[in-house]
Amino acid sequence: MSNRIYNFNAGPAALPLPVLEEIQAEFLDFKGSGMSVTEVSHRSKWFDDVIEDAVTRTKRLLGLGDQFDVLFLQGGASLQFCMVPMNLCPPDQPADYVDTGTWSTKAIKEARGLGRSVNVVASSADKNFSYIPKEIRFSPDAAYVHLTSNNTIKGTQWSAFPETGKVPLVSDMSSDVMSRVFDPAPFGVIYAGAQKNLGPAGATLVLLRRDMRDRVPEALPTMLKYTTFAEKNSMFNTPPCFAIYAVSLVLKWLEETIGGLAQMEARNREKADLLYEAIDVDPFYQGTAERESRSVMNVTFRLPEASLESRFVQEALENGMGGLKGHRSVGGCRASIYNSTSLDAVKALVDFMKTFAQKYG
Ligand SMILES: Cc1ncc(COP(=O)(O)O)c(C=O)c1O
Repeated sequence: MSNRIYNFNAGPAALPLPVLEEIQAEFLDFKGSGMSVTEVSHRSKWFDDVIEDAVTRTKRLLGLGDQFDVLFLQGGASLQFCMVPMNLCPPDQPADYVDTGTWSTKAIKEARGLGRSVNVVASSADKNFSYIPKEIRFSPDAAYVHLTSNNTIKGTQWSAFPETGKVPLVSDMSSDVMSRVFDPAPFGVIYAGAQKNLGPAGATLVLLRRDMRDRVPEALPTMLKYTTFAEKNSMFNTPPCFAIYAVSLVLKWLEETIGGLAQMEARNREKADLLYEAIDVDPFYQGTAERESRSVMNVTFRLPEASLESRFVQEALENGMGGLKGHRSVGGCRASIYNSTSLDAVKALVDFMKTFAQKYG
């Protein structure tokens, strides 16, 4: 469709065109039900198949086996900032957190607000969160180690996860879930708002390692207990049906069109390399993240002046490229190049960057 732009939004973000087309094609009559997927009962066979498909594909793509429950919750990743400590951290045990900015800072605040004893074992606040800390000393008695695998705003990403021995990792993977291959075994919980790499806003993916179920306190409110949802296949109450349906189609695309996570990772790496190269060859553009901490998903950069940055965003839009404004808390420019962003989109952006720098540099 000619009026679709190249979408570099940070979230909600681009979805694969074949997925949008499939949604459109079956929107009025879902699988011969004579109803839209937004109209069928979540207790029907039609929706059972949808959620089953989303769960099975998630397990297959991430190699989860039966060691994990795959849950689709509501409340966004932000609700997980408090559900994680409520469910996994007894009040008399500390939890380790690594502070890599904004989202981890919020997660720390929530855990502390619940009265948990939080050790911030490492932070990159000293350099404006432009890097991922190394050589961290974790507490042997921590309930878990929490980290944000990709900082959507600062454009930093853990390239490998730290060894924490018996202490489970917990990660907010909102902005890089399903973008690369990794070993899920050390993670007690992984959570991610769907609206970047998985589908539309409205569903939050939570992967709960089975042994974490034992930690969930009986006394928690029903809707805040992981076990409530684990025991009912995410359908204790009405789930975010449409979002889960769209996630299942995105996962189908990832498996059947892309070929899985290894192929997705290679594509993502190629896109990121191309874009960082464009930044590195021209001093007109300054990357904001330290090189070895650079995100493959969110590429953040500055231009010589704020007025040029506004112009860049505006002219890019006039050239069919949207969503390049940096987060309002940091300014600058940001290209979010999640799974669904094509190599063609990145090539078009790189060409535009060259032309823009020639014009104004
Ligand atoms: C890494 C990360 N964590 C958490 C959030 C907050 O997610 P939600 O809006 O789903 O609560 C975001 C949103 O952009 C994010 O990028």
